[in-house]
Amino acid sequence: MKKYWHNCHIATMQNGRYSIIENAALITEAQQIQWIGTAADAMTQLDLSTAETIDLDGAWLTPGLIDCHTHSVFAGNRSIEFEQRLQGLSYAEIAAQGGGIMSTVRATRQASESELLLSARQRIEQLRLEGVTTIEIKSGYGLDYLSERKMLRVIRQLAVELPLTVKSTCLAAHALPPEFVGRSDEYIDYICTEMLPKLHAEQLVDVVDAFCEHLAFQPEQVERLFQAAHALGLPVKLHAEQLSALGGSSLAARYRALSADHLEYMTEADVQAMAQSGTVAVLLPGAFYLLREKQYPPLESLKRHGVAIAISTDLNPGTSPVLSLRLVMNMGCTLFELTPEQALAGVTLHAAKALGIETQYGSLEVGKKADFVAWKIQHPAEISYWLGGDLSKRIIRHGQEVLF
Ligand code: NIG
Ligand code: FE
Repeated sequence: MKKYWHNCHIATMQNGRYSIIENAALITEAQQIQWIGTAADAMTQLDLSTAETIDLDGAWLTPGLIDCHTHSVFAGNRSIEFEQRLQGLSYAEIAAQGGGIMSTVRATRQASESELLLSARQRIEQLRLEGVTTIEIKSGYGLDYLSERKMLRVIRQLAVELPLTVKSTCLAAHALPPEFVGRSDEYIDYICTEMLPKLHAEQLVDVVDAFCEHLAFQPEQVERLFQAAHALGLPVKLHAEQLSALGGSSLAARYRALSADHLEYMTEADVQAMAQSGTVAVLLPGAFYLLREKQYPPLESLKRHGVAIAISTDLNPGTSPVLSLRLVMNMGCTLFELTPEQALAGVTLHAAKALGIETQYGSLEVGKKADFVAWKIQHPAEISYWLGGDLSKRIIRHGQEVLF
């Protein structure tokens, strides 16, 4: 069905800029944007007689929001660790005592697929209410074949049950499972030769990720994983330079990673490598804020080298129990000195690039998917400006209005 959406203004986010069209209109058909321009041109150029007409009442349209880094499937929560951190323990100390990621692994291994599905749905519902139409979700709280498979099946099922585009990332190299203590090389071998090929054969994996950190895996180990991923034809991304500088982001760039994420401790050489490879820098202000991190990512250098910057909730039970992408946009501005325009690019075009889907998603252009939010605001900067609350809006995915 052809639809004519009019009486609106559009921030198309083409090229990662607002790229505003005032007094705009667009035509969608078969899930796609077929035409976009000014209302005046629409009246003179188009035959609208067969189209359903939708009056947007002066709203501002932006692309549907994309949350490009989440761990939103997990069991339990870690509010106790939040309390411990505020009593003076660090994230690394809590992990060394058997808490941290391992405590979520224990809970997730015990949970059934339907329990995981239900709790993930409830969290993702919060994101969707804010205008999220695409999400990336990682495994990484299973750390054995059956438990990772359980998580990835839940991720695939979410895409079936919700009007949401979902990218599934295998993060089996998130932490060393207890069965492999003292044998981290063997765990990486197990992922490369058994777990990943099997999960890939079941079509459960879109991208491969790892946690490159002293409390997780070394760059040499990550490199072996990246080689195994590439041998299967899978793109890679990496948690890099979150707590220390190991050169993970340069490694990611060498393997043409879609993104390197966190990046607080990255060096100038890492920035240059990422600029050259076109790897997106995914900044995670929620984890930065909740860990009360003092080290800032090299914001000025990233901008100077023209590295595309995305931002995301990093929704996870340990470092970032954040259920609002708009809050992250605000934090991106106040903590990481992004302009509201850059923050919006960070959850639209640049987030799409971090998922390798920028030819179809992330900006409002002819031929791309008709995913957009119609906000009742005076200017798109308001999406980052208001802290909390629910801006009134309509959400359209694949040309269809999403109802809650
Ligand atoms: O992105 N850095 C590693 N992974 C997550 C945290 C996972 C957890 O603590 O459960 C992150 O911050
Ligand atoms: Fe993460």
